[in-house]
Amino acid sequence: MPDELSGRRLARWTGRLAYGGDYNPEQWPEEVWHEDVRLMRAAGVDTATVGVFSWSMLEPAEGVHDFGWLDRVMDLLHQNDVKVVLATPTASPPPWFSLAHPEALPVTAAGVRLMHGSRDTYNPAAPAYRAAARRITRALAERYAAHPALAMWHVHNEYGTVSYGPVTDEAFRGWLAERYGDLDTLNRTWNTAFWSQRYGRWEEIFAPQATQYLPNPAHVLDFKRFSADLLTGCLDDQVAILREVTPDVPVTTNFMLPTWNHYDQWAFARRIDQVSIDHYLDNRGPAGETHVAFGADLARSFNAGRPWLLMEQATTLVYDYAGGRMYAKEPGRMRRNTLQYLARGATGSLFFQWRSPRVGAEFFHSAMVPHAGPDTRIFQEVTELGAELGRLAELAEPPSRGPVNDHRVAIVWQPDAWWAAETRALPSSDTGFLDAVRRAHTALWNLGVNADVVDPDGDLARYDLVLVPSMLAVSDEQAGSFDAFVRAGGHLVVWHFAGSTDEHLRVRPGGYSGAFAPTLGLRVEEHVPLAADEAVALDDGSTAGAWSELVHLAGAETVAGYGSDAHPVIPAGSPAITRHRRGAGVAHYLSTRLADDALERHLDRIRTEAGVTRAHEAAGGGLEIVRRRAGDRDYLFVLNHTSETLSPVLAGTDVLTGRELDGPVDVAAGDAVVVRENTTTN
Ligand code: GAL
Repeated sequence: MPDELSGRRLARWTGRLAYGGDYNPEQWPEEVWHEDVRLMRAAGVDTATVGVFSWSMLEPAEGVHDFGWLDRVMDLLHQNDVKVVLATPTASPPPWFSLAHPEALPVTAAGVRLMHGSRDTYNPAAPAYRAAARRITRALAERYAAHPALAMWHVHNEYGTVSYGPVTDEAFRGWLAERYGDLDTLNRTWNTAFWSQRYGRWEEIFAPQATQYLPNPAHVLDFKRFSADLLTGCLDDQVAILREVTPDVPVTTNFMLPTWNHYDQWAFARRIDQVSIDHYLDNRGPAGETHVAFGADLARSFNAGRPWLLMEQATTLVYDYAGGRMYAKEPGRMRRNTLQYLARGATGSLFFQWRSPRVGAEFFHSAMVPHAGPDTRIFQEVTELGAELGRLAELAEPPSRGPVNDHRVAIVWQPDAWWAAETRALPSSDTGFLDAVRRAHTALWNLGVNADVVDPDGDLARYDLVLVPSMLAVSDEQAGSFDAFVRAGGHLVVWHFAGSTDEHLRVRPGGYSGAFAPTLGLRVEEHVPLAADEAVALDDGSTAGAWSELVHLAGAETVAGYGSDAHPVIPAGSPAITRHRRGAGVAHYLSTRLADDALERHLDRIRTEAGVTRAHEAAGGGLEIVRRRAGDRDYLFVLNHTSETLSPVLAGTDVLTGRELDGPVDVAAGDAVVVRENTTTN
């Protein structure tokens, strides 16, 4: 939990912004290590993440350890003032482990058992895996507890493994028995009467492996919850050992953002001292900039508003064959993106990876030291960035009070909402969680409005405006807390389809979006999904698509109605966008998927009504402006993502150049300014 104790543990860390990356010296002869530390010093690197995939080198046979090479690496790094984020290597069990414990290998939904030869070849439910992971964690902790280079524990790597098969089935049954108590309750909750699925014995229930046609949605959703709980259990195993052996050393684990969703980020964050993230741009163009902002906002929010660590980004090419090729980053982009992460609360920037390997699965992935060596554009930029981070060292101080960025808007983020949205056979495949959340975040980014994400089971009252772009399954308790938020003066925006079921995916009777109906002051009679290329016009000039609804007012007012060309089910003028005063607050509803410009216009209207301001009046439209706190000082980050020089009015000290600013300041295309403002947050 990021509490006061965490603050004390992390104190050993502050002083400078962390700079460095994943370091894999075990892949190289020792003479290269000496070149490594020389280059690290030249580049201003002060942090190395070591041992992430070293299990087979550290434990070459069951119970036999070889720490000699790691001892020498730790000593060498320490002698060169490089702090070590020491990983537990449990993401990649060695080959001997698979042979000794074949039942601990992962199994796909189709029943195929996967073999070692890549990474993550383990089943998190397997007792043998859990025991082996605990043993190597304890051995490492005991060996390096007192080593002066040890700055932080990096547990595992990107938890996210899901496995089916007999070992999982047994664990799943145990989880279900605990949750439901008896089979009658489970049968009723899952409505197993549908398609003759009634279970008479626990042994009849399996993880939802491949089946003939559509599976039971409640069964699948519970399996996702179970799988995430398993991973939390794996994390707990290791954190308990590390806290016992090294109570003063902070613990982190790296979240793969935002695409991995097999774990519960909020639950993870409560267990560690600091959230770390791995973040790779999902797009080359401007969407890549919004992606950086999104990843950073997630990380900070998961970390309860405290500074967080960027554990991995790439200098240029990223190993992702989804699109069949890797794309190079243009000069200056790595720097600009890094400043974006810092603006949004990062305590530094680490990379995957320090040095590109000569061979191995990801051998053409970029690094700080590329294959072509240090005499390269990439290493030059790496060195310049290291020097610049040195000039920004004062940002390493945690805020003396309050969150590192103080935002008044939050978007609801919940792993459960994502899993629910993955249910097959929903009325439209255009109801994806990540897409909806990203669109809301991007609209705010374009408006220059900065936001957090919030756990719907957490504290909504901190915010003036809360957005719910995608949350199909809403429990009565959650519905009550959204309603209480509005009554107490909050502004809530709910997107179509949200709240249409309870937490077990049982449709709420009487009208869709039923969990929100009293709050929104309306009744949704029918869902009317649209074809992918079909658009509808609203009577305020907005364009929308993908989805529409037959909505009846029950206290709300219509802000925009459907036009006359909507689906025949929907009469012209019937409510599309609504607004409902409730208690001291207002609840807004968007019953259709607004086109980007219309979404921005309506969110701008709503945030204005909610009294939400931007960090700077010039923010938006590619000029990203974010206020960050460090110590008792405020810093304004101004990042120009456009292709023209822009000249916002700024006042304070330019931290990178030392010049005093008071008036319009030219920020060249692609450049950034970090201003220490003349105010304090006391
Ligand atoms: C990360 C992972 C690294 C490396 C990298 C490649 O997700 O943690 O080990 O695989 O991706 O981009």
